[in-house]
Amino acid sequence: MQVPFIDLSDTHEDLWPQIEVAFKEVFHRGAFINGPATAQLEEEFRRYLGVKHVVGVNSGTDALLLAIKSCGIGQGDEVITSPFTFIATVDTIIRAGARPVFVDIERHTFNLNTDQLEAVTTPNTKAILPVHMFGRVAEMDKLTAYAHQRRVLIIEDVAQACGATFAGKRAGTFGNAGCFSFYPTKTLGGSGDGGAIATDNDEIADRCRRFRDHGKSSANPILHDMIGFNTRLDSLHAALLRLKLPDLDESNQDRVANGLLYNQLLANAPVVCPVIPEDGSHVVNYYTILCDSRDQLQAHLQDQGIGTSVYYPVPHHLQPSHLYLGYRAGNFPVAEEICQQALSLPCYPGMTKRAIETVAGAVCAFYGVG
Ligand SMILES: Cc1ncc(COP(=O)(O)O)c(C=O)c1O
Repeated sequence: MQVPFIDLSDTHEDLWPQIEVAFKEVFHRGAFINGPATAQLEEEFRRYLGVKHVVGVNSGTDALLLAIKSCGIGQGDEVITSPFTFIATVDTIIRAGARPVFVDIERHTFNLNTDQLEAVTTPNTKAILPVHMFGRVAEMDKLTAYAHQRRVLIIEDVAQACGATFAGKRAGTFGNAGCFSFYPTKTLGGSGDGGAIATDNDEIADRCRRFRDHGKSSANPILHDMIGFNTRLDSLHAALLRLKLPDLDESNQDRVANGLLYNQLLANAPVVCPVIPEDGSHVVNYYTILCDSRDQLQAHLQDQGIGTSVYYPVPHHLQPSHLYLGYRAGNFPVAEEICQQALSLPCYPGMTKRAIETVAGAVCAFYGVG
């Protein structure tokens, strides 16, 4: 049995009649940009998250960039983040003019190690940017307590954890801003690039809205009172996301069930399975194991027709574009080791039990366990 890493082909079949209606409405109105569908999605997502504002933008990357800039972070400022994340987390800090400062990650959650914050906090530290890796929410109680005590901001990268909760509160609503991605493979995936910023802060929201639309003044739209970008969330994407949002919790539960089944089937394999608490704090956007001989295992699975992915092979302090920051190999040993050992297996809503058994069976066969 062939098992692709991600199969998006069937995802929208059931929704197709509603998609047709929603897309036709956008076409009939001709409101492809700045139309009602985007405003409606923002309102519905705002209510889902329980925040004051949601601002739709055209990617998770731009959500981060606009949030960072709207928090007033720029030249001379430092932002503490993880060296083990998608590159956009780090590059948006740099594009805003600030300096990323890394702390190592925890092996069992892949999230930044809160015990290391103190050692790197300086008078220039303006914010902490935790990433909820693979769908697992970072320790937001410790992070918010520390940020409050040191008077620094928190900007959450929720690209991989849309819908997750921590102590009953949605990820992306703990900090000053939460940055979401609607990239098609994310838990709330659209039909192209898309993203959103969630915040309770009126000024941050207003700045994000102005930044996304060429710096247009909120008081007088013929005036531009700042240098902005063109990064709006298109109506067709918003129309699809509106149809998928009501099913988000259920599809996340499906991801969790698939992850737990993997954990059960891989119990005898010499791999480290992710801890998946059943309290909503992990939505298993990517089911990622730690294993020895990772590249050989990946090749073995590929030979069996099973797709996998390596997130992420190189930690950011060692990426050529970040070497100017002055870090060296050995600075973040946990992240460096995980980059050699992490392998993400197929895990998506609607995946059959047989497909999961096939993948787990192939992993066990590679290591010679039953
Ligand atoms: C952790 C993380 N941050 C940011 C992003 C950027 O999101 P986008 O691809 O929508 O720009 C991604 C998406 O891959 C991500 O996984």
